[in-house]
Amino acid sequence: MPVTNPTLIMIPTYNERENVEWIVGRVRAAQPDVHVLVVDDNSPDGTGALADAMAAADPNVHVMHRQGKDGLGKAYIAAMRWGLERGYEVLVELDADGSHQPEQLGRLLERTVDHELVLGSRWVPGGKVENWPWYRQAISRTGSAYARTVLGLGVRDVTGGYRAFRASALAKIDLDEVQSHGYAFQVDMLTHAVRAGVSVVEVPITFVERERGHSKMSLGIVAEAMARVTWWALTGRGAVRGGRR
Ligand code: GDD
Ligand code: MN
Repeated sequence: MPVTNPTLIMIPTYNERENVEWIVGRVRAAQPDVHVLVVDDNSPDGTGALADAMAAADPNVHVMHRQGKDGLGKAYIAAMRWGLERGYEVLVELDADGSHQPEQLGRLLERTVDHELVLGSRWVPGGKVENWPWYRQAISRTGSAYARTVLGLGVRDVTGGYRAFRASALAKIDLDEVQSHGYAFQVDMLTHAVRAGVSVVEVPITFVERERGHSKMSLGIVAEAMARVTWWALTGRGAVRGGRR
């Protein structure tokens, strides 16, 4: 299905020198009509300058420079505000490291016609993870199942970071309320969306673990996610029963 509305692909980067040109090139090749916004947190490795060079050569590529490393969540919120101000109708989250394949963007964009939030999902039939050991898959699945259950979210992959939001979905969420940084950010956004009555659908994706550069996630970020999810559940901030609907 052709993309009829202007679409913005938001790519947060921190030290992704080996990946940034590769991923932006793949996005532009897979979906020539979409625009790209790289959101760089002043990466010491020079990722921001590489992004600037791409933006200078391609009017559909934009760069936002932020002062310093402030977490994935803050970078995405800033990108969402940037995109909403400029009237994009669909805003997509995509990692720079190749874990989210631009060649599968079409699967997400197609479903934005009938849903306001489309989740790329590893844990629905047809979804997969490549290059993760079994224990990492088990941790992710278990974490997803835990958050889904205690927060009353009716989806399988609650932490996934390959997502397409219609602007109307973001307009229903108070972005100032979303303060989480790492994996918790994805759960936080999803919980807000479900509570706001946004229609959500999952589509299968193949998540490919990065081959170049280093993950920015840490034990602290996993702990943040666990703690916040538990706190939200205990304080009735889930999506259903007990929640302040
Ligand atoms: N601007 C900015 N600032 N970008 C960041 C920051 C930051 O502080 N931290 C990470 N990023 C960027 C990375 O450069 C990469 O493009 C993307 O965010 C994901 O970071 P990774 O470090 O590769 O995270 P991951 O692979 O562990 O997490 C991915 O999968 C999770 C689910 O398994 C992400 O998609 C998460 O959102 C998702 O929850
Ligand atoms: Mn990654």
